[in-house]
Amino acid sequence: MRVLLAGARGQLGRECESVLAFRHELVTVDLPECDITRRDQVVAVVRAVHPDAIVNCAAYTAVDRAETDRQAAHAVNAGGAQILAELAKECGAFFVHISTDYVFDGRKPVPQGYAEDDPAEPVNWYGRTKLAGEQAIREVGPRHAILRTAWLYGRHGRNFPKVVLARALRDPSKPLWVVADQHGSPTWARRLAMQINAVLQEQPEGVFHAAGVCRATWHDLATEFFRRMGLRTIVEPCATRDQPRPAARPTNSVLHNVRLSAAGLDLMRPWFEDLEEFARRHGDELRKEAASAAP
Ligand SMILES: NC(=O)c1ccc[n+]([C@@H]2O[C@H](COP(=O)([O-])OP(=O)(O)OC[C@H]3O[C@@H](n4cnc5c(N)ncnc54)[C@H](OP(=O)(O)O)[C@@H]3O)[C@@H](O)[C@H]2O)c1
Repeated sequence: MRVLLAGARGQLGRECESVLAFRHELVTVDLPECDITRRDQVVAVVRAVHPDAIVNCAAYTAVDRAETDRQAAHAVNAGGAQILAELAKECGAFFVHISTDYVFDGRKPVPQGYAEDDPAEPVNWYGRTKLAGEQAIREVGPRHAILRTAWLYGRHGRNFPKVVLARALRDPSKPLWVVADQHGSPTWARRLAMQINAVLQEQPEGVFHAAGVCRATWHDLATEFFRRMGLRTIVEPCATRDQPRPAARPTNSVLHNVRLSAAGLDLMRPWFEDLEEFARRHGDELRKEAASAAP
């Protein structure tokens, strides 16, 4: 299959690049050569490539900045998604798009989680733009899979485990205060790339949750990551209100991969197993990178 991958230099895009290239003829694009908000650029790329499938990993992902940079976030997450969906339709390609747990308001009581059919009601602008993207894709027509994922981390780009690792290495004796009252589904970008690969093969249609299995707080994630990295940094729990951010976060955005499981396609694993593999594979590189980033 000839696959066009947009947002190929992002955290997930880079994992997709290496996973999908095994099986497919892959063409990768990102900014500046393919700005998904620029219909002319996307048209030129799609007409040159003639893809059988388009995978969209491109997004405006700065959740806090999106609160004040509203137009730009909307242009990418809603407008760009629509343009790609329309061009996929025009060339008869299957469209895989990535969305987010932040489409939910997070008010469900723990230990419940969200299934695909639960009503979406975002609490921040980023979530609203991602939901608008989903709606725009649905309006374009069938032949798409929208994969909602959550709390992504991986070898590339900026993510929570890397940020806390850099802080821990900067001052190993200093405890880290980490939010313990938000619940979610940490997801290894590599595993998600494998899931995308399976979705490309089978081409199921509609919205699917594709996130790490089992629930965690940010505090759990930091604690388990340090343990697997062999660090003794003390991780203290704190409340969301102790670390205010410009954008509100859903308190509970745990995702259940109900529809992937029903389709026999769920490749996602418990988050702590993937975290273990992540630390085992990349621990040394992560340490070096974090140490060189520290002042
Ligand atoms: N990260 C998470 O925790 C998380 C959680 C849930 C869902 N998701 C979703 O997962 C997907 C992948 O996220 P990620 O963490 O890989 O994000 P990322 O690392 O920020 O990658 C996004 C990529 O899109 C590119 N991009 C931004 N604007 C673009 C435009 N107008 N045209 C083309 N490319 C553009 C970015 O380029 P620049 O870097 O140059 O801007 C970057 O290469 C996104 O749909 C995101 O909403 C992420």
